[in-house]
Amino acid sequence: MSQSIEVEPLTPTIGAQINGVDLSQPLSEDRFQQIHDAWMQHLVLFFRNQKISPEQHLEFGRRFGALHIHPAAPYLHDNPELMKVHTDKNSHIQNGAGWHSDVSADEEPPLGSILHLHRVPPHGGDTLFANMYAAFDALSEPVQNLLIGLEAHHVSDYTNQYGDHKPQREFPKAVHPVVRTHPVTGRQALFVNVGFTKRIRGMSRMESDALLEMLFKHVTNPAFQCRFQWQPNSIAMWDNRCVQHLAIWDYYPETRSGIRVTVKGDRPFYSEQAV
Ligand code: SIN
Repeated sequence: MSQSIEVEPLTPTIGAQINGVDLSQPLSEDRFQQIHDAWMQHLVLFFRNQKISPEQHLEFGRRFGALHIHPAAPYLHDNPELMKVHTDKNSHIQNGAGWHSDVSADEEPPLGSILHLHRVPPHGGDTLFANMYAAFDALSEPVQNLLIGLEAHHVSDYTNQYGDHKPQREFPKAVHPVVRTHPVTGRQALFVNVGFTKRIRGMSRMESDALLEMLFKHVTNPAFQCRFQWQPNSIAMWDNRCVQHLAIWDYYPETRSGIRVTVKGDRPFYSEQAV
């Protein structure tokens, strides 16, 4: 039996730093399970001082499932599973600068994302994460009842976002439940985000816009959030099924750079029953 990991929560609501793990070393099944359990409990995990190679990053990602390929983002080492995350003085946009759940416009949106930053600005470049179980739980019962059973259109458009890089595939679009049941925890999470969710099905444009505007505002409540300050070789891994995130671009003209490995997910569903 391997040693236990140390789980240090950042807030009572979301986020925990994991200590006592070196991801460049083989991970026993027991340790993997401890990390997985901590992830399900805290939604976003952070690791410090992880000097891992791209191969080790891929290997860690594959422990959670098959890897996802972003529709449009550039990649490194000729491998589309190694998504490039890079902003510098020549950038006109930063990836992930608005609240979103990664590629929620996919029919089967990514389960989770594992970001390893190699280079960070001297100050700034933090990432905010928000707990979508807490966002759902905080709504009044009449609003919860209105949302359950509704579906929304998620549409992606990466035009001009990644310069000259040719997209890997067509920009996806999909219809998903507004409230989704997490397949592991059985908890209900709000699943609309300003990055991709365009319209609620079966409502007039005015009704849909008003409801989405309210929800987009609601999910940004700081009470649902934690804020991560990166260091070189930090890793953050977030569960896209119950987390939204936003990367703050407050460090221009400095450079922030790393690699994201993303794990494929399942089609979102709503179930009244806890799984
Ligand atoms: C992203 O993967 O959405 C960006 C997150 C970040 O750069 O902090």
